[in-house]
Parts: sequence; structure tokens; C-alpha cells
Amino acid sequence: MVDLSVEIAGIRFRNPVLTAAGPPSRDGEALVEAARGGAGGLVAKTISVRPAEVPRPCMAVVDRDRPVKIRGFPAYTTYGFLNSELWSDIPYQRWIEREYALAKGTGLPVIASIGYTPEDVAKLGPLVERAGVDGIEFSTHYVGFDPKPVAEVAKTLRESVEIPIFAKLSPHLPDIVPFAKAVEPYVDGIVAINTYGPTLHIDVETGKPLLGGRYGYGWLSGPALKPIAVRCVAEISKAVRVPVIGVGGILCGRDAVEHIMAGAYAVQICTGAILEGPGIYGRVAKEIEEFLREHGYDSLEDIRGMALKWLPEKPLRTVALAPEVDVERCTGCGICERACVYHAIEMVELADSRRKVSKTVVEKCYGCGLCVSICPTRARYFPEG
Ligand SMILES: Cc1cc2nc3c(=O)[nH]c(=O)nc-3n(C[C@H](O)[C@H](O)[C@H](O)COP(=O)(O)O)c2cc1C
Repeated sequence: MVDLSVEIAGIRFRNPVLTAAGPPSRDGEALVEAARGGAGGLVAKTISVRPAEVPRPCMAVVDRDRPVKIRGFPAYTTYGFLNSELWSDIPYQRWIEREYALAKGTGLPVIASIGYTPEDVAKLGPLVERAGVDGIEFSTHYVGFDPKPVAEVAKTLRESVEIPIFAKLSPHLPDIVPFAKAVEPYVDGIVAINTYGPTLHIDVETGKPLLGGRYGYGWLSGPALKPIAVRCVAEISKAVRVPVIGVGGILCGRDAVEHIMAGAYAVQICTGAILEGPGIYGRVAKEIEEFLREHGYDSLEDIRGMALKWLPEKPLRTVALAPEVDVERCTGCGICERACVYHAIEMVELADSRRKVSKTVVEKCYGCGLCVSICPTRARYFPEG
């Protein structure tokens, strides 16, 4: 049995799949449901000194009407999700009196999320600490260039509480590393990333934006965010010594493994839990466990940060190398042939079985690698690995 438990800043989680601040962590009851659904730890919805006035509508899937299915499922679930939800509309007093206690009753570690200014966190930090939470994440939705205001929040919170604190960073920064480094002296971990935005999505049937906030803007989450999140997790993991918690676009165990290979100690899920319900946490944890077992790994440590050595500053190679084909794996589906913009792939018949397999026309091949990435059976590969 693979051990999925993980300790971060002295807090032990039964598995690395945590809730993220958002609707699935909106109150005590939702956090209890997340625990029942198999979450390893409970990160609550962000609170601030006054309840949020949430514009409505405040959630939308991107491209509901796009007539595309992927393996039979509507493609929108694999793309993006927008929200304009802000922080909790429940007063902080009620969180302190009731919601955290309900979550604590599950026996899982509970992390409060608070925002946003130094004054806000200096006030809320000690209150949530006294309510018995195990750690505090502070949310930043900062869009400026200067890391100082974010570091100031971290410093103020550090001076206000004794329990572990985590900085949650936003992706729309010119360079996330200086921000991570600026908060590092004060925090016990960094959570990457918050939603990306602002973004705009218009319903072409009505000509109106789908969301009800300022200018119809929303903030992007879900699978469309995952490559940005994984890049941020990798950059931060390389730059700081404190643990990084990855969040963004996780719908399955392989998504979580990708974050962990980029350096994450644990992951959080928001959009996936909105779309699927609280069972997603246990499902993803189980899929991570299966992945580790099937690939011969004993623990999360075996894969954590595994990809970092493959992220060189300069390209590894600039000459084209034509992919080869493992004819045993090739089903002859022709997806690679259709995808190749250089017309460098042909379907040919195998002499012995008359089965069709794909073949690279080496002279035409640009070595772009799209066919390798798109092949459903991994029959196409670069000979160098
Ligand atoms: C509807 C919604 C509400 C959110 N509310 C918060 C919040 O209160 N505080 C916060 O730090 N992040 C908030 N987030 C961001 C998520 O916690 C998470 O960082 C982001 O959505 C990326 O993860 P995902 O792709 O799994 O959703 C919210 C996201 C969504 C979709």
C-alpha cells in the first residue's frame, strides 16, 4: 500500500488532496461534506473583515455550446470555468463561532483563508487562530508589479499569529518568483495559484457576458488554468525552500501528479469539486495512489519535483528529430496524420498483417512533436526518450 500522507509545516494530512477556497468550502457543512468525500485537509473559503457583496450571476462554464465532444463528454468540462465570486458573504464572526468548529469536528486539519490588507489580516489572524484552525492561508489577488504590498501582508500576519501561515499567489504577475521570494521569510508554505484574470466570455446567443460583475469580467479556473499553475508551481519550487501547494485545473489523479512532479507537496481542488461534487477529493487521492503503484513508486517523495531537472533555461535541441512509431501500440486511428500540419505522416499497411499503422515521412517532418503529444496510445515517440 502506497503511503499518501504528507506533512507540511508540522500539519499532517491523510492524503495530499485538499479543498481550495471557493464554493465547495463555503461553510462548515460544505467542509464536512468534503471530508466525507475523502479530502486530506480542509482549506476554507476566504473571509475578510466585511462580508462580500457577490455580483450575480457569478459562475459560468466556458463554451457550453461549442459542438465538440471529447471521448463522448462535452468538451466544456475540460476547458475553462469563470467566476466573479469574491470572498465569503458570511460574516467573519459566524465563521469563528460556528463554521470552523464544524470543520474541526471532522478531525482533519483545517486551514482558514483570510484577506486582504495588512490591517485585515492583523485583525482576522488572531481571531481564526483562537478559533482553533491549524493554519492560515492568506489570499492575494494582487495585480501590480511590486512584491512589497504582498510581503507586507505576510509580515503582518506572521507577527500576528503563531500557527503556520501560507501565502496564496495569483498568476497574473509579470514574474511570480520575486513575489514568492518576498513572502518566503514570513511563511510556512506557498499556495499557487489563484484564478487568472480578468477575462471576458460573451454568450453569442444573447450578446451578453455570462457573469454579472464589473464589465462582465470573470476569473479563469479549471483545466485551462492548469498549464499556468504547473509553470508557477515549478518556478516557485525551484526558487524557495518552503513547501509549495499546487492548485489549478486538477480533475484527476494524473493532473495532481503533474503538480507534484512540478514540486508540489499537496494539491487543492476547487472547480473540479464544483462540477463533480465532494467525492472528487477521494477519487483523485485514489487515482494518485494507483498511479504511484502502477509506476512502481512507493511514496509521493519519489515523484515530487521530478520534472524540475528537465526544465533547462536554454532549449535542449533545435534540430528536427523525426518521431518513430511502435507498430505494436499503433492502432492506425489516423489522428496523427490529420493533426500533422507538415503532411509528414502517412498511414501504411504492414506487409504481414495488412494492418494500417502510421509512418513518418522524415524529409517533411519538422520535428514539432505534436503527433507524439496527441497519439492516444503513445505509439509515437522520440527515440531519445
Ligand atoms: C467560484 C470560485 C470561487 C473562489 N473563491 C476563492 C476565494 O474565496 N479565495 C481564494 O483564495 N480563491 C478562490 N478561488 C480560487 C480557487 O481556490 C483556486 O485557486 C482556483 O480556482 C484554481 O483552482 P481550480 O482550477 O481547481 O478551480 C475561487 C475559485 C472559484 C472558481
